[in-house]
Amino acid sequence: MTRLCQIGLAAPIAWLSASVFTSYGQEIGNSPSLPMVINTWGGPFTAATDAAYLSLLDPKTSALDAVELGCSTCEVNQCDGSVGYGGSPDENCETTLDAMIMDGTSMKSGAVAALRRVKEAISVARAVLEHTTHTLLVGDFATDFAVSNGFAVQNLTTENSAASCGQWKAANCQPNYRINVSPDPSGSCGPYAPLALNASSAAYTSQLLPSGDKPEGHDTISMIALHASGAMAAGTSTNGASRKVPGRVGDGPITGSGSYVDGEVGGCGATGDGDVMMRFLPCYQAVENLRRGMAPQQAAEDAVRRMLRKYPDVQSGIVVVNNRGDHGGAGSGWGFTYAYRGGGMSETVVVSVPPVVAVAVEAGDLR
Ligand code: GLY
Repeated sequence: MTRLCQIGLAAPIAWLSASVFTSYGQEIGNSPSLPMVINTWGGPFTAATDAAYLSLLDPKTSALDAVELGCSTCEVNQCDGSVGYGGSPDENCETTLDAMIMDGTSMKSGAVAALRRVKEAISVARAVLEHTTHTLLVGDFATDFAVSNGFAVQNLTTENSAASCGQWKAANCQPNYRINVSPDPSGSCGPYAPLALNASSAAYTSQLLPSGDKPEGHDTISMIALHASGAMAAGTSTNGASRKVPGRVGDGPITGSGSYVDGEVGGCGATGDGDVMMRFLPCYQAVENLRRGMAPQQAAEDAVRRMLRKYPDVQSGIVVVNNRGDHGGAGSGWGFTYAYRGGGMSETVVVSVPPVVAVAVEAGDLR
């Protein structure tokens, strides 16, 4: 495997990255060859990489099948507590699920958001893709749809998630995502009433993630599969953010944010602070960057820089792969990793991605 790359800053970038990347438009050339699977995070998430990759060794398995299987593996394994049932309880102690799956040939995507009482979020998302002409179903209506498609209603709360939520309530619901409400959310539980806003209110001056509230563990599996035929698919599954306001939907089920794929170009998967990330559609941005000639590493770093410009502290991670299997990743605010396995690889490899560091940027520097 030859890695054709050089170290340097591609002018006029005004952000520093600790990672190695190619000059503008140069191919990284680090594909393990097809079939291939690549996803956010290493550690417990590599079981999903392996399951999806091994499934693709049978050419009858489609790229969509592999993504569904990979994300399902994390849902069953409750990867890091951030995927599947029993994680990220909301203010009411309920776990709800966000998921999407996208076909890189038809560009169809199917998604569910704030899915209640059904464990198989990625599979319900696929049912949306395959049995409706819609893209996104939400909440109890998504549950009704799931039941009508043969999925079982189950309790998503576990002993651990109930205990964790109970401890949070006992600690005056700290931290939480409320701002500009009374009683003061930095010291009290709700119910809350809205306060009048003015131009200096926190709603206009700060991001939503309260300072000091770092997510517990990692937060999303986003996966891209490349079939031996070249067909591509992508998908995302997560239980969102701990202590979220009930009804909150993150980036996971948003096409172009949680993941995105165009088989003519490549795909992307994201993880991180979904409330911020979904405002930038970083995976759409990254795939369009590939289309415009960037290598995967640069495409990822550019998409992250666009978020850092407005939210310098955002926790983000995106993994990008072109349709030949060349790959890269970028993140901010934490030590992001991604995992891949392709060609004849006997095991999954985990890549550590040094955070992109924001120093300064002018709007005109964004390409
Ligand atoms: N990235 C997961 C979420 O914020 O919902």
